[in-house]
Amino acid sequence: MGKRVLLIGQGGREHALAWKIAQSPVLEKLYAAPGNPGMEELCECIPIDAVDMEGLLSFALQEKIDLTVVGPEAPLMEGIVDLFGEHGLTIFGPTAAAARLEGSKVFTKNLLKKYSIPTAEYEVFHDIEPAREHIKTYTDSGKSIVVKADGLAAGKGVVVAADYQEASQALDAIMKDKEFGMAGDQVVIEECLFGQEVSFFAISDGSNYVSLLSAQDHKQVFDSDKGPNTGGMGAYCRPPIYTRELHQQVVDQVIAPVIKAMATEGIPYQGVLYAGLMITETGPKVLEFNARFGDPETQVLMPMIKSDILPLLEAAAKGKLDEQEVELETGTCICVVLASGGYPGAYQKGKEIKGLDSLDPDTLIFHAGTSKKNQSFYTNGGRVLAVVRRGEDMKSLIDRVYQEVQKISFDDMHYRRDIGKKALV
Ligand code: AMP
Ligand code: GLY
Repeated sequence: MGKRVLLIGQGGREHALAWKIAQSPVLEKLYAAPGNPGMEELCECIPIDAVDMEGLLSFALQEKIDLTVVGPEAPLMEGIVDLFGEHGLTIFGPTAAAARLEGSKVFTKNLLKKYSIPTAEYEVFHDIEPAREHIKTYTDSGKSIVVKADGLAAGKGVVVAADYQEASQALDAIMKDKEFGMAGDQVVIEECLFGQEVSFFAISDGSNYVSLLSAQDHKQVFDSDKGPNTGGMGAYCRPPIYTRELHQQVVDQVIAPVIKAMATEGIPYQGVLYAGLMITETGPKVLEFNARFGDPETQVLMPMIKSDILPLLEAAAKGKLDEQEVELETGTCICVVLASGGYPGAYQKGKEIKGLDSLDPDTLIFHAGTSKKNQSFYTNGGRVLAVVRRGEDMKSLIDRVYQEVQKISFDDMHYRRDIGKKALV
């Protein structure tokens, strides 16, 4: 019997997941809730919101879904894995308690400290004045300091502050003005780390894990990492800084110990473990964990996975990952995000996207924010599309992907022109 699969989410990450899942020889039917117009040729999109717990549950029960795959963090934090589990449904992703690895920086920092997993030195504060005093001990000696809201803050709850004033303002925003609501009830004040940032992705079933790949995101909106942070303007796999030796350190010092720590704490972690790491002079240190696949990292990870992904996700959800191996492609993969003019600030929607029919057959397009009318696609979000290519050599891959980018246009389209360049130095 083939597998009936429900994929939750609607972004570029989910389009990439749908593309990979749709290739599975054991798939019978793939649904996406709510999905996006780019995914329609791969699956049936059903108009249920990604955080409509009851709607998703009744759909999964009614359609006899064999496996649900959760893309974004919101339903995880809301406890969709717990809910589906209570109804005997198989679902890939961590429980709400385990998703605190992403949802609470205080939880994660305390766990890392307890189990001696490398991370920046830190203190937790519930009150603003002691936090301000603590900041001074760093800034008075000319050191930068990092202020982090405990909870999720749409990527805006972390400030790397160069001086006291900047750090103090960040504290006010988080704890006094409550810009992120309850996410700012506690703050983490931590030492500023220096080095290159790398992400590493593994899949865990609660006790076993399978390593996927390393990747580098490009968070700032403009070239050379200038301008405000975005959801991610591009990514590529296997950054050269992520050597074999570093990989061994990452799995031995971070991935394996954190999975073991979560199990020991009675909150086994099942799902994607996305480790955000700073590669410092003294080795890798954890900046953060995410409890889901990255966006746009998934757009470069999926084309690099040679094995059928469905048995892998199902085995993780069922605690049987020890029976699984994953085969990866050689070389690398790159993704350039095409964004609406103005993003990550205000932007317009409804611009016609041209050139999609002139692309090379080996180019992958993953939709993030589009709409469809009379067979044409229009912009419908900040991040609109990802242009993706896989290949062996980074230099020629960069040239190739940008040739393809040139073929696509919409009014006010903008993108970074330096994705993957860090891999060349
Ligand atoms: P986080 O959500 O904790 O990963 O923080 C978001 C971003 O802030 C990271 O991707 C880093 O660029 C930066 N950051 C966080 N913590 C630190 C730190 N201790 N030192 C330097 N940069 C940091
Ligand atoms: N690309 C960053 C993220 O998915 O959080």
